[in-house]
Amino acid sequence: MVKAYPTVSEDYLKAVDKAKRKLRGLIAEKNCAPLMLRLAWHSAGTFDVSTKTGGPFGTMKNPAEQAHGANAGLEIAVRLLEPIKEQFPTLSYADFYQLAGVVAVEVTGGPDVPFHPGRQDKPEPPQGRLPDATQGSDHLIQVFSTQCLSDQDIAALSGGHTLGRCHKDRCGFEGAWTSNPLIFDKSYFNF
Ligand code: HEM
Repeated sequence: MVKAYPTVSEDYLKAVDKAKRKLRGLIAEKNCAPLMLRLAWHSAGTFDVSTKTGGPFGTMKNPAEQAHGANAGLEIAVRLLEPIKEQFPTLSYADFYQLAGVVAVEVTGGPDVPFHPGRQDKPEPPQGRLPDATQGSDHLIQVFSTQCLSDQDIAALSGGHTLGRCHKDRCGFEGAWTSNPLIFDKSYFNF
């Protein structure tokens, strides 16, 4: 059974467990773990510690946020997830998108990621808070500091690129970071 914030009911936890099983099936069938991890990160990566706004609160379902350049391709993730989400109306989108990221790491052989349900859906965050891949390390440090994350956190989190690849039509770059982009391992740090 997953660990929860105290405010989450037993029924909610059961729904999380059931949704997790369905997500495992979807992600394995469609080989879409990388896209799901990116969805979870792009939801969380809008957090701003000084205003306590943004963050993983289900906003990626809004077409306006999907249309933001940094989120190109994530509308596919939202579309793939929607038929499962419809089966779990009591779950927040906020929890559901983060759960998809957790399952993505697990099904590709990564570590068990603790999941703490209880997020509530919030309005859309301001745009332009995610890092720009064409800029250098100063930019990354600046962006991650708004999320209260350190240089060490940036390095560790960037290891998420053990999964997936760049798509020319989405970000202008092309290709994977590792030799097997569907396996979660440490190879990103060796290339
Ligand atoms: C350090 C700042 C980061 C930058 C500049 C960055 C940039 C990018 C870019 C340009 C892509 C290619 C998108 C595409 O063409 O489809 C991408 C993909 C991806 N990113 Fe990041 N990213 C960052 C951090 C992260 C973090 C923290 C995670 C997760 C822990 C992550 C997970 C992923 C995944 C899994 C993909 C592959 C998506 C796919 O194959 O569809 N990224 N990232």
